[in-house]
Amino acid sequence: MPRHVAIIMDGNGRWAKSRGLPRAAGHERGVEALRRTVEAAGKMGIEYLTLFSFSTENWRRPAEEVNALFGLLRAYVKRDLARLKAEGVRVRIIGSRENVPEDILELIGKAERDTQDNRGGNLTIAFNYGGREEIVRAAQGLARQVAEGTLTPDEIDADKFAGALDTSVLPDPDLLIRTSGEARISNFLLWQIAYAELVILDVLWPDFNGDHLAGAIAAFQTRERRFGALADEGREDG
Ligand code: IPE
Ligand code: IPE
Ligand code: MG
Repeated sequence: MPRHVAIIMDGNGRWAKSRGLPRAAGHERGVEALRRTVEAAGKMGIEYLTLFSFSTENWRRPAEEVNALFGLLRAYVKRDLARLKAEGVRVRIIGSRENVPEDILELIGKAERDTQDNRGGNLTIAFNYGGREEIVRAAQGLARQVAEGTLTPDEIDADKFAGALDTSVLPDPDLLIRTSGEARISNFLLWQIAYAELVILDVLWPDFNGDHLAGAIAAFQTRERRFGALADEGREDG
């Protein structure tokens, strides 16, 4: 089993368009797919699930759509937090806090605080998240420590850098799934996916279910992960 599964939940707009519905309707159905996925991942014993819900580049969309997406995050946290808490899920939100409405920051803080003692799985929502923005923010944090004299440049190594990212307490994803058939990363977890296995699925996010998740995991299980070393049969010591 992959320990950490990350998902780029893509295709809400196309799902809605193909049915003659407004894009917001696709996002609403997308939240239902998110719920199904959290539940399925829990049942399958996936320890870490990280979902991309709003990117730093999604601000380029019309304000109406941005507001609809923010509204759905609000509604999701308000409606599902008690259940996640009861189920023992630890919730984290990664991404920039910049330009995020105050009431959402409060909700995020509450979700994280209310579930911080939970040990029954980890749900991380990447909201207002961009991999480059996260890396830049981490670099600024380290530079600040150097300027203050609490860190020397030579002490900065890959572990130190990873520890300055929003994901510092999470293992790197083993499996990255993207729905809707697009074969790109779109600025998601750039640092963390160095050795993730990628699975691109043709399903649009609102149609995603536990069977799709199981299929992606089955694909993952056929992959041979090498991390730069030789495959087992290539090693002379057997
Ligand atoms: C994913 O669906 C949700 C977000 C990016 C917020 P899209 O809204 O990107 O749907 P498509 O890609 O236009 O179909
Ligand atoms: C990535 O999807 C962001 C989220 C799923 C939240 P996009 O739909 O924004 O990515 P592009 O624009 O197709 O690359
Ligand atoms: Mg998209």
